[in-house]
Amino acid sequence: MGRAAVLAGVGSAVPDNVVTNDMLATRMDTTDEWIRTRTGIRERRHLARGSATSDLAAEAGRRALKSAGVDSVDAVVLATTTPDHPCPATAPAVAAMLGLGTIPAYDVGAVCSGFLYGLASGAGLIALGTAERVLVIGAEAFTTIIDQTDRTTAPIFGDGAGAVVLSAGDQSQPGALLAFDLGSDGDLADLIIIPGGGSRQRASGIPAEPGDEYMAMRGREVFRHAVLRMTESSRAVLARTGWDVDSVDWLVGHQANVRILRAVAEHLGLAQDRAFVNVDRYGNTAAASIPLALDDAAGAGLITPGDRIVLTAFGGGASWGAIALEWPDL
Ligand code: UT7
Repeated sequence: MGRAAVLAGVGSAVPDNVVTNDMLATRMDTTDEWIRTRTGIRERRHLARGSATSDLAAEAGRRALKSAGVDSVDAVVLATTTPDHPCPATAPAVAAMLGLGTIPAYDVGAVCSGFLYGLASGAGLIALGTAERVLVIGAEAFTTIIDQTDRTTAPIFGDGAGAVVLSAGDQSQPGALLAFDLGSDGDLADLIIIPGGGSRQRASGIPAEPGDEYMAMRGREVFRHAVLRMTESSRAVLARTGWDVDSVDWLVGHQANVRILRAVAEHLGLAQDRAFVNVDRYGNTAAASIPLALDDAAGAGLITPGDRIVLTAFGGGASWGAIALEWPDL
């Protein structure tokens, strides 16, 4: 059997501060009913001032290391859209907070698909023999890039983190990442964008417009592309594993909108109750959403050892992907 990256531990962390739909409705022209019926979201978490992405990332990482029963890894890959600073990357700080020593640590940016890109990157380090064990984290202080008075984005996004430990093993082992499919389309870059703060704005020499530091999203178009790409990507990993769709136990999709998850399940021909949902409690936590969902589902005893799982996401870039694995006994 070929060398493979095997999922050996999982953990997550969310801020304590719960923000309900009714609380948002006091700040902007929206209602609990609109948010629930259009997105499935009931509440989300907001990180308190004084905390940053690295704090959430380190806590999720600590829990994943504990779950794997290890206290060292050979690399840290952090998927995030909200680094502590524009420069440097946040992963080295997280490695230091975890006492992991002078190991390689770097950030991956693929917005809501970031965790899948992080898994592919970590699996690549293992395939190369550069690492035997990698901590892959998705962590977001996403509310820091959202205008908290904008009803088209504020109800949707929340903060959180999730992490897994990947260990070198072989493809026959439960937890082995069995198939990958990744894609992007830069022609859709403006679907989800922070216009200000980057080199494009500086190169044009035009002062930032007020509000340009916040993320803007063309929601309806994102919805359409998300359903299409998550379905296609999931089909691609099913074809690579040779799994029949009826044999899939859980579709763990990026938690952006319960309607997207239902539509992807329907297009795949998968029963609706096979699509795991926790967007109701956390909203869209971008790169954190898939590991947060995995930890949540496994912790609740929904995902059990041997279950066939398809992970899939779509997000800014545009970028998307899917990964197939069988759940290990953690
Ligand atoms: O994480 C990366 C991927 N992101 C996503 O996957 C997000 C994908 N998109 C979505 O989830 C949905 O498109 C949204 C939840 C963002 C929006 O839902 P929608 O069903 O696509 O609504 P819409 O944008 O088409 O807006 C419908 C109506 C509009 O009013 P009119 O033009 O019909 O009069 C909006 O102005 O709802 C209005 N609206 C709101 N009303 C109350 C938009 N936001 C709100 C709001 N409260 N928060």
